[in-house]
Amino acid sequence: MGRYALHAVIALCLTASVAAAQTQDPDARAAAVEKQMTDAERVQLLHGILAIPGGGDVNPPGVPITGGFIKGVSRLGVPDLIESDASLGIVNPNRLRPGDTATALPSGQTLASTWNPKLAFSGGALLGREARARGFNVVLGPGLNLARNPRNGRNFEYVGEDPLLAGVLAGETIRGIQSERVVATAKHFALNNDETLRHTADVQIDKDAARESDLLAFEIAIKRGNPSAVMCSYNLVGGAKACGNDWLLNQVLKGEWKFPGWVMSDWGAVDDVFYVNAGLDQQSGQQIDKQVWFDAPLREGVARGTITKARVSEAVRRILRGLYAVGADSPGAKPAIDQAAHNAIARQSAREGIVLLKNEGAILPLAANARRILLVGGNADIGVLAGGGSSQVTPVGGPAALTHVGGPGLLGQWGDQLYAPSSPLKALRAALPKTEIAYESGYDVETAAAMARGADVAIVFATQWQLEGWDATTMRLPQGQDALIAAVAAANPNTIVVLETGNPVEMPWAEKVKAVIAAWYPGQQGGDALAEILTGAVNPSGRLPQSWPIDARQNPRPEPIGLGQPEGTRVTLDYKEGADVGYRWFAHQTFKPRYAFGQGLSYTSFAYSKLSARVRGDSVTVTATIANTGARAGASVAQLYLTGIAGKPALRLIGFEKVELAPGQRKVVTITADPRLLADYRNGAWRIGGGRYDLALGQSSADLALRASVSLKSATLPR
Ligand code: BGC
Repeated sequence: MGRYALHAVIALCLTASVAAAQTQDPDARAAAVEKQMTDAERVQLLHGILAIPGGGDVNPPGVPITGGFIKGVSRLGVPDLIESDASLGIVNPNRLRPGDTATALPSGQTLASTWNPKLAFSGGALLGREARARGFNVVLGPGLNLARNPRNGRNFEYVGEDPLLAGVLAGETIRGIQSERVVATAKHFALNNDETLRHTADVQIDKDAARESDLLAFEIAIKRGNPSAVMCSYNLVGGAKACGNDWLLNQVLKGEWKFPGWVMSDWGAVDDVFYVNAGLDQQSGQQIDKQVWFDAPLREGVARGTITKARVSEAVRRILRGLYAVGADSPGAKPAIDQAAHNAIARQSAREGIVLLKNEGAILPLAANARRILLVGGNADIGVLAGGGSSQVTPVGGPAALTHVGGPGLLGQWGDQLYAPSSPLKALRAALPKTEIAYESGYDVETAAAMARGADVAIVFATQWQLEGWDATTMRLPQGQDALIAAVAAANPNTIVVLETGNPVEMPWAEKVKAVIAAWYPGQQGGDALAEILTGAVNPSGRLPQSWPIDARQNPRPEPIGLGQPEGTRVTLDYKEGADVGYRWFAHQTFKPRYAFGQGLSYTSFAYSKLSARVRGDSVTVTATIANTGARAGASVAQLYLTGIAGKPALRLIGFEKVELAPGQRKVVTITADPRLLADYRNGAWRIGGGRYDLALGQSSADLALRASVSLKSATLPR
């Protein structure tokens, strides 16, 4: 046989064996490969490093600086796990990979405000492609802890306060990431809703209530997205660390939900080798823990019989099956990144995720004949703010600004406030070439007010920086910005406020300004998207994924817990609200939030009519007609709520659908409720009590125009 023919045969055989391997059931393949491993190879897969040099550690040769690294078993074709944060873009930690920039997506809250699962999928696929292009095969996201505390430093990474919305969007992000043969990691499991004393905060919650709230979000996301990995969290739940929590990991995740993938720890979350018996499969970021538990201590445990060999093999099989299920072991050629296409995804997410909260006298969109507009503050001349911590992305084009914060702890370590280079000022000037648009920093309140006096419209950009490892201590805008807004509003009756925040904030000036926009952290296309919304080139369609309290007194835990206590102090977080997170909490109170969950304005108007509901098995399907009654194209988010069970009031989002409508157009929407939201979790199962179920459809949790009732039979839902 000639040389070329031989090559062709070899190539054919290789292709055939790769194809056979890919089509083989991932569990069978994992079992076959695990069997061939030595004990040393097994243990090697169960622990790995934070691959960021420091404190005397250096990365093994050839390992890029990144969030995590686990050595594979090359003789058996098991790849190294090269893990990267996270869900807002592919992170270059502390910019230690020189020149490596990535698409900086809008924050998780912005994505959640789109109520658009398709955007979650395309954002996920973007993450998968950008990960694969760098040789990463595990994305350490998405995060979907519910926003129980509107001061939580990481809410900007997450997808709101509602289990259905968060579960659906995170599930789609997972599907998107894994469609690119990259493992997705649902995190942080579970009930990690605060950053203060995150290693020692002990969440006390009724177990059934946890199943109906934070765990339901994970259940929905996991069943929808099938992530290969789940990351357990730092905090304790019911007295046991989440990564060593038998109830969370063995009983619920792996037992009831039959999650077939692997559980990796958060970085520095392992205190004991026996976490392996509670369901933890892999120790990540091992040098941050007191010990590399999942190496020598694990082998000793096996030798002594306190850890079974079978358990070790099972943990290995879970990792392998996770890799094989998505094809992460055969990623193919590194994809070329179409930056224009990725910018378009980031732009669309910002367009749909920016929420118009107030628009008195239809001051927005900006009149084309405004002669002079003044922009104040928020570095709006150069870009838009991003959140900090392990999810902070170095945007394409590089940071527009990095402002050092400093100080002790994570606030100091991660203390660079990053602005993505998408300038609202430049974008507005390009959109309104005939208007004189000036920028004033807002550093001096009097100067800003004096300049505002001479403008037709003043737009104040107010920022609140949030980051991993640190919760806001109040809900007020920091650094005197309330006084700045009040002064500008007093000087100019046409004042608009754009908020770039990681959470809802107090608005003592709310009645004094004409319009308010919640832009969250809108990503590297955010300034351009904001200009499109301000000028009306894009009609806002974002809806709040989080209730917007008037002030911190409205929260279930009004005072920050653990503030000022040294690291390691044990605190109890008593979740007395149980499953009543966010709008469900408000539904039981005598007070109302400033803006309700699901709320958001449009430049057009919608009419909802003809609600009909019919029972289908254990669920309910509704149809209704939605009409665009205004003069502009726009999108409405039809939200279906359960409002009563057998005469007892309730408020639960049970389904939603975003509908695009041309002026005058009407469409019939069909929404089927998720049966778990019609049920309660009791005595180990989802149970529908039966009787009359009251439903309401509307444009927010506080605007429920259409009502219907159905009668459901009592039922226990299949697992
Ligand atoms: C964070 C995780 C992150 C990990 C790796 C931890 O501090 O909590 O979300 O994936 O670091 O960077």
